[in-house]
Amino acid sequence: MTIRLAPSLLSADLARLADEVARVLAGGAEFIHVDVMDGHFVPNLTFGAPLVRALRRVTDAPLDCHLMVERPEDYIGPFADAGATILTIHPEATDHLERHLAEIRRRGMRAGAAVNPATPLTAVEEVAGDLDVLLVMSVNPGFGGQPFWEPAVEKVRRARALLDAAGSTALLEVDGGVARDTIGRLAAAGADTFVAGHDIFSAADPAAEVRELRRLAEAAAPGRMTG
Ligand code: DX5
Ligand code: ZN
Repeated sequence: MTIRLAPSLLSADLARLADEVARVLAGGAEFIHVDVMDGHFVPNLTFGAPLVRALRRVTDAPLDCHLMVERPEDYIGPFADAGATILTIHPEATDHLERHLAEIRRRGMRAGAAVNPATPLTAVEEVAGDLDVLLVMSVNPGFGGQPFWEPAVEKVRRARALLDAAGSTALLEVDGGVARDTIGRLAAAGADTFVAGHDIFSAADPAAEVRELRRLAEAAAPGRMTG
């Protein structure tokens, strides 16, 4: 299983964003996770497509954009134009998930669906074959640095089974409270892509923290290569 790390800019020093991106990429991060919040779907307000456009000017790294917004369909065009790589939307925020996932792909991005802690996996079951990313939230979204929601480990296990049953090769991403004490259990349960904000950006050396999280995930992942 290939492990991917996606540092969340929510906990980065926003006044030095280009430097923060460079630091985590130097540590080997595969994705840069961009948390887009609208103050309605979640009780916080963050970034929009203009930030993605600005990041695109300083990096070629995949930009993993997580839309925590109502009516995510309204943002597909702007995020595609801005240079987003992955666009992940919440089924709780829209009535026509399947249509919008198709539109995300039509606009040349990879399509993700994210489920909040209280949202059952059945919300994405019918579209499992249409997903490039399935994101299991392990906190209620809105803020960085929240405590890990423990039942996420078992939910990741069920999400892995759901993807396998659908014959899907989608990434299984987990977001919220990912840190040294949780990443191994999540990897063992079948997650392969890990968002981490507070753990990475509060570390003295964020690049080293990316490497440490990867080491712990790889050590715990099923079917890992040895030697
Ligand atoms: C939660 C966001 C997360 C958040 C994770 O609202 O979707 O991406 O930044 O932060 P940590 O890793 O600090 O829990
Ligand atoms: Zn996120």
